[in-house]
Amino acid sequence: MYAVVPPVDARKPLSMAEGKIEQLPSVEPQAGSVTVTLQSLSFIVKNHKKGADGKRSDLALVNQVSAWFEPGLMSALMGPSGSGKTTLLDLLAGRKTIGRVEGELLFSGIKPSLEYRRRYCGYVEQFDTLLPILTVREMLLYTAELKRPLSEPLENKKAEVEKLLTQLCLNSCANVRIGSPAARGISGGQAKRTNIGISLVTDPRVIFLDEPTTGLDSYTANEVMLTVQKLARAGVTVVATVHSPTAFCFSLFDRLLMLVGGRTVYFGPQDQRAIDYFQSCKPFLESDPEGLMGPGHNSAEFLVDIITAGDRDGKGPAFADAYEASSLAAENAATLQNHVAAFKDAQLPPNLAKELAVKRATVTPWWWGIYVYAKYRYDNSKHKARRHTHIHTHTHTRARAGSFDPFPSTNVVTLRHGSLSVAFYASTCLG
Ligand SMILES: Nc1ncnc2c1ncn2[C@@H]1O[C@H](COP(=O)(O)OP(=O)(O)OP(=O)(O)O)[C@@H](O)[C@H]1O
Ligand SMILES: [Mg+2]
Repeated sequence: MYAVVPPVDARKPLSMAEGKIEQLPSVEPQAGSVTVTLQSLSFIVKNHKKGADGKRSDLALVNQVSAWFEPGLMSALMGPSGSGKTTLLDLLAGRKTIGRVEGELLFSGIKPSLEYRRRYCGYVEQFDTLLPILTVREMLLYTAELKRPLSEPLENKKAEVEKLLTQLCLNSCANVRIGSPAARGISGGQAKRTNIGISLVTDPRVIFLDEPTTGLDSYTANEVMLTVQKLARAGVTVVATVHSPTAFCFSLFDRLLMLVGGRTVYFGPQDQRAIDYFQSCKPFLESDPEGLMGPGHNSAEFLVDIITAGDRDGKGPAFADAYEASSLAAENAATLQNHVAAFKDAQLPPNLAKELAVKRATVTPWWWGIYVYAKYRYDNSKHKARRHTHIHTHTHTRARAGSFDPFPSTNVVTLRHGSLSVAFYASTCLG
């Protein structure tokens, strides 16, 4: 009926079927990898609608989620639209500034500060936020200059960028302008990999990707996710949301966290056990699951279809209750406790301990932000006018999205604060 897609063996060399995608160069393993543990993690906001008593009730967008994400492994976050995937990623990456967080989130046994997460977690947003006027190499160097320590010589930053270009197979388009829909530049897959490169500029221990394959053709999606798997195998902790992945892309994932209505409906390995688990959930469905899961479906489609059908039938809570009561959830709770306990008395590698103790979300002072901005704005005289518009729009769009710091030492919150914003506007307008 549907083909089960086993996870790709970590020990096997990475290559696509029939060797269509060339082997990727290997990546240096990182010291001090991070295990992320979530214990009954909830994110609660005030409901827009007032209840019968005229008061706004609490709304849990992420509801009591318990899971762990290990270094070296790829974890897929799946669920129907509106199930809380992006909210959970934002929460993990320290991007939520409103709402209440309950439960415990630990990075290698330590409660991570927002600053640590903003500084050391890579985040690849669903929509590409690149500067159309820069080339791929310039875009990465621009980010490296903003986000890597000021004390690091430019030559080192350049070397890091070159490493990233190779790692992400971007060498062939390194000098191609990123472009925009109006003035075509690099391809969609190259843009996605450039975005991944941006998130890797700071050598993150953990990387969150929100729908990295959406909008890409299946070949490019597979290529992008192979690149990400390579990073995971080098010791980075990878969590990615995926919508309708190809069978190959799905096979790259090792673990699955599935949400419906912010609640866990499955957390476990991405293999036959996931299929078996959801086979047992079929009786919850009112609609005919066989109709949704016709011949030729693969396991990714089966899993997405069954929870989407369940969600549409209003059976999301039944799926979540069934998971809570399952032996799988009990097994997971015990394993989670072991993960947490393993870090209780563990000595963290000095680098990681230092990183986890950071007090600032960024590494360079605010005036450096202005300098780098001005430098990249004026470097390319040919495109001066367009550069002005693009960089200006870009920095402000990303600042609003809470993802990019035109003044790297201040953060978006400070930028919104007022005075620096005026300085920034002045610097952009006076030129
Ligand atoms: N501040 C808020 N107040 C109330 N509801 C909110 C708020 N922010 C998000 N939501 C709701 O929370 C739910 C989860 O949103 P989220 O963006 O995390 O979903 P998603 O799983 O990423 O969906 P998609 O697959 O479409 O990207 C949605 O139903 C959304 O409307
Ligand atoms: Mg989303």
